[in-house]
Amino acid sequence: MANLIEIKNVSHAYRTKAGPLPVLDGLEIAVPEGEFAAVVGPSGCGKSTLTRLVAGLMKPDSGEVWLHGERVTTPRKTVGMAFQNPVLLEWRSILDNVILPLEIVAPRMGQKDRVARAMQLLEMVGLAGFEGKRPSQLSGGMRQRASLCRAIVHKPDVLIMDEPFGALDNFTREDLWQTMRDLRAAEPFTCVLITHDLRESVFLGDQVIVLSGRPARTQHVLTVDLPADRTLDVLYEPKAQDMLHLLRDQIRIAQGRDGAEGAH
Ligand SMILES: Nc1ncnc2c1ncn2[C@@H]1O[C@H](COP(=O)(O)OP(=O)(O)OP(=O)(O)O)[C@@H](O)[C@H]1O
Ligand SMILES: [Mg+2]
Repeated sequence: MANLIEIKNVSHAYRTKAGPLPVLDGLEIAVPEGEFAAVVGPSGCGKSTLTRLVAGLMKPDSGEVWLHGERVTTPRKTVGMAFQNPVLLEWRSILDNVILPLEIVAPRMGQKDRVARAMQLLEMVGLAGFEGKRPSQLSGGMRQRASLCRAIVHKPDVLIMDEPFGALDNFTREDLWQTMRDLRAAEPFTCVLITHDLRESVFLGDQVIVLSGRPARTQHVLTVDLPADRTLDVLYEPKAQDMLHLLRDQIRIAQGRDGAEGAH
């Protein structure tokens, strides 16, 4: 399968008052079309920087970012993004928030078609009946569901998510994981998910990429060979437990601690 995203030998340093701060150091990532890549790594290692590069919001000092066979040098409309804070517009209804990207990307699309597309997604994530509400009238989990709909309403090539479930309680988060899998079963888009939750990375990912501490390198790539139609129960099976152990060890290495220290 062709790679939809390719990050080749990417290095970057931010210019700060105290001098250059190297954040990425020869990063290599490849995500085949339709696959889900989860990215984990120590706090501050450069994960959000990576999302900005893929979206074309910044250019690296060196190396190349490719999306769908094209070199990324400018912001992309074909990238959908979701963040920890759903950033929905309070003066718009949930429906109008979800429609927003279509107004920008597909200005000639009729309002009826826009509404139909948005409602299709809102139904899929269990928000039918809430389309007329304002964001503040919804729970955190519902807002995040709406923000996922908005991120994919225009059928982007890739959905990039930067810790989208990080602010939710455990049970709500697990519900959202299942919603994410349902959405992808209906529309198989390519995904990059930044997360610090190892269970989330194994449940959602086809591959889990472990980044080293700053400046980030690709330290380890784990192929998640669990059934495509997995449910949460799969996380309690020995195969998944082995993967979680391996990832825990990799994070310890990334944090510069060895396994013997074991505190985490
Ligand atoms: N625009 C910027 N200018 C200068 N330094 C920056 C800038 N953006 C990020 N940094 C620094 O670069 C490093 C990597 O930041 P980044 O946000 O990519 O890390 P992260 O892995 O997403 O962190 P976290 O796990 O806390 O979300 C951090 O030390 C951060 O302080
Ligand atoms: Mg971040």
